[in-house]
Amino acid sequence: MADTDLAIELRGAGRRYGERAALRDVTLELEAGRTLVVFGPNGAGKTTLLRMLATLLRPHAGEVRVLGRPLPDDGYAVRGRIGFLGHEAMLYRELSGRENLRFYARLYGVAPARVEEVLAAVGMSARADDPVAELSRGMVQRLAIARAVLHEPALLLLDEPLANLDPAAAAQVAPLIGAGSHATRVVTSHDPAGGLRGADLALGLKAARVTFLAPAGEIRAAQIAELYS
Ligand SMILES: Nc1ncnc2c1ncn2[C@@H]1O[C@H](COP(=O)(O)OP(=O)(O)OP(=O)(O)O)[C@@H](O)[C@H]1O
Ligand SMILES: [Mg+2]
Repeated sequence: MADTDLAIELRGAGRRYGERAALRDVTLELEAGRTLVVFGPNGAGKTTLLRMLATLLRPHAGEVRVLGRPLPDDGYAVRGRIGFLGHEAMLYRELSGRENLRFYARLYGVAPARVEEVLAAVGMSARADDPVAELSRGMVQRLAIARAVLHEPALLLLDEPLANLDPAAAAQVAPLIGAGSHATRVVTSHDPAGGLRGADLALGLKAARVTFLAPAGEIRAAQIAELYS
């Protein structure tokens, strides 16, 4: 059945906060293993879309299916197969990076050895015992990436994943969250060239609405620039 190959299916999906619409009438399909890049100005609805896909926000309109399961009803069934990297690191600031990751490893039933593997992969082994509160923003972002990929999720939801990373760190985390990661990915970006690179499908949001949805190779720089005008 073709449907089983779809990692994400949205039909007329919407979400509001009180009276304000944060996302209106989004319809899209993303096949398993593919990457969707989401562009849009501040407040366009990108984070709202990702949080909805992450089962953190329930849709107020339309249908949302993630990894073959309808949300919000089957959220419990897919939560453990999703890795969400949001604007917030979702780390306990008084705990160290290693303690945080060991906590999440227990939660996900992941072997402790995997914690050391991801710490090394994000270049944080040497500072892994410092409280998160004492780390730089880029270091916290590296740990947040380690947390998001710890359980080798089938679906990665990445909200501006390279924020606060230096160029070397961005290159270092590419095997974990980049196009070679094997997961289905939804990535928000404000960087047209960087965002389109490694993406299969591109979505433009503006004021809660879809302005374009097309194969990444067909999107022109002018269309992205228009979003921000
Ligand atoms: N918790 C909330 N309560 C009320 N309104 C919210 C909340 N979160 C988001 N919004 C509103 O929803 C709209 C979409 O916000 P969202 O965070 O999805 O934008 P975004 O595209 O991720 O922007 P940015 O590029 O700044 O991250 C905005 O008008 C925002 O003010
Ligand atoms: Mg956002």
